Amino acid sequence: MNLPKDRGERSILPSEITPQSVYRDRRSLLQGLGLAAAATALGSRAQAQALARPGKLPALPGTRSALAGAMTAEKTTPYQDASTYNNFYEFGTDKADPARHAGTLKTRPWTVAVEGEVKKPGSYDIDTLLKLAPMEERIYRLRCVEGWSMVIPWVGWSLADLIKRVEPTGNAKFVQFVTLADRAQMPGLRSSVLDWPYVEGLRMDEAMHPLTMLAFGMYGEVLPNQNGAPVRLVVPWKYGFKSGKSIVKIRFVDKQPKTSWEEAAASEYGFYSNVNPKVDHPRWSQATERRIGEDGLFTKKRPTLMFNGYEAQVGQLYAGMDLKKFY
Ligand code: MTE
Repeated sequence: MNLPKDRGERSILPSEITPQSVYRDRRSLLQGLGLAAAATALGSRAQAQALARPGKLPALPGTRSALAGAMTAEKTTPYQDASTYNNFYEFGTDKADPARHAGTLKTRPWTVAVEGEVKKPGSYDIDTLLKLAPMEERIYRLRCVEGWSMVIPWVGWSLADLIKRVEPTGNAKFVQFVTLADRAQMPGLRSSVLDWPYVEGLRMDEAMHPLTMLAFGMYGEVLPNQNGAPVRLVVPWKYGFKSGKSIVKIRFVDKQPKTSWEEAAASEYGFYSNVNPKVDHPRWSQATERRIGEDGLFTKKRPTLMFNGYEAQVGQLYAGMDLKKFY
């Protein structure tokens, strides 16, 4: 994510950064020439290994989700890549910054306030919130507007489970998500690259969709700080920036809320931000994507799928809408 060149300070273009994995893959490509067949046979074992707990953080298991579309069979991204190639501007704009700096984030005590157009507003301690619904494991594709993607096994439950409990009023048309903004813990807040706190929003029916998830963990463990601990949103059919990290407030409102990225560059980042290979970002094509962790020398980009491959599940939410206008 970055802003037009003429807006304030310059942030780093994704194309300027070569992820560690590219170097690694180049090396393994050279070492592995002639071993391609063996590598294919190992594919399913690699998947099992990727799903094994990395063992770095406390375990947070979830049962396999039975929800339609929730368990892509695609190979999961290695934990190492998913936890070191991040966007979390509160800790810096370089992809490596969040893993480097997010150690200062204090995830306990932590409360999530639920307010606005609901009959039962309240404040949830994170350890109470965790137990509100049964933990599920869901393997979702995550597509960033910058043109890269990952496949991540999240642990959490449908946001709808919380929404039903707080009983939205008839005026609740949208949900706003506010994330932590604490200068003492987040060195990136010194930069004015975005107006803090980072805020995002969904239409009520999008927030209620069962695929929309509050995630507390990934790869069978609690979330590493850089991925949005202790709780983040995951909306798999939208560009990654809709999935706010380290949420402190969920507010139900009657009007479409402004989001941080819209405030920063409305012509580039719309409210809906559904993954759509036919509607390009002004500076980046959205037709194809680079899968992090498999970006070797000769790896072809993958075609990006409508609604990131979740069209069967969510297409009807947008029936009759002009998706070029409501980008
Ligand atoms: N949430 C906050 N609070 N701050 C951020 O900078 N970046 C977003 C999103 N959530 C961001 C955020 C963007 S641009 C993306 S692509 C995803 O988080 C990245 O999630 P990941 O690092 O877990 O892959």
